[in-house]
Amino acid sequence: GHVLVLAGGLSYEREVSLRSGRRVSEVLRALGIDVETRDTDSSLVPSVLADPPDAVFVTLHGGAGEDGAIRSVLELLDVPYVGAGPDACRVAFDKPTAKAVVRSVGLRTPESVTLPKETFHDLGASAVLARIVDSLGLPLFVKPARGGSALGASMVATAEDLPAAMVGCFAYGDTALIEKYVEGVEVAVSVIDLGDGPVALPAVEIVPDKGVYDYAARYTAGHTEFFAPARLSPEVAAACAEMAVTAHTALGLRDISRTDLIVDAGGHPHFLEVNVAPGMTETSLLPMAAEAAGRDLGTLCRSLLEQAAT
Ligand code: DAL
Ligand code: MG
Repeated sequence: GHVLVLAGGLSYEREVSLRSGRRVSEVLRALGIDVETRDTDSSLVPSVLADPPDAVFVTLHGGAGEDGAIRSVLELLDVPYVGAGPDACRVAFDKPTAKAVVRSVGLRTPESVTLPKETFHDLGASAVLARIVDSLGLPLFVKPARGGSALGASMVATAEDLPAAMVGCFAYGDTALIEKYVEGVEVAVSVIDLGDGPVALPAVEIVPDKGVYDYAARYTAGHTEFFAPARLSPEVAAACAEMAVTAHTALGLRDISRTDLIVDAGGHPHFLEVNVAPGMTETSLLPMAAEAAGRDLGTLCRSLLEQAAT
């Protein structure tokens, strides 16, 4: 048999996904596993039907890759895959919905407003923005409600910066999430479940050289300093791990996820978002966390595939 690594697709994160797919394929092949790596288009269906894989590793980021769509196709084809099912993905990928779910189980997450493009225009952009600044204060953080890799995301320090941030956001999605900006340390906690329940890998601390963890800072080697494990006290590290495991569980996720959060000056973590198909590139966070835990990435991916196949 063979395993299938799905990458590419048509989201804005296509290039990142191709890099994730290449990396996962390489570490699996290094273990002697027969790996087929595919870009993801409609030829997926006939090819899976002709030669069904033992299991699929989905390294598709954004859009259909994370919103549940591709996993519905895999369910229909009756092939096992690593990661959460379609319903859980749909909820987790939509940031406002995910925030509401984790808030309902007691996690802190920044106050926010969700704004569809139509509402924004229909109600008069400047009046809407003025009201948002009044209610949330400044600074703010604006991002597409469904997206990733910081595309269309920006920090808003003054009310004058907000219109441009909205335009940048709507270029990547039709609904904006406007959050109160929380000052602090950016941390990512990956969660793995190998059959004994979800377990947090060591937190990774993110220190971008220009202060902003944007697309370039994420995927250009040397633009960001990472600390794995994060430089947190044992108590704060434990709180971050607990947040990630709670989010994973509350959102009904499976096998693998990564929660991104901010630790404020008081040591409190604030949930930002969860990723159902975490980046697996050379500069991505889950592979760093695995290494910090002394776990081989290939072995980890193989275990997840074996678990999915049984
Ligand atoms: N959305 C990117 C791939 C990540 O979260 O790692
Ligand atoms: Mg993300």
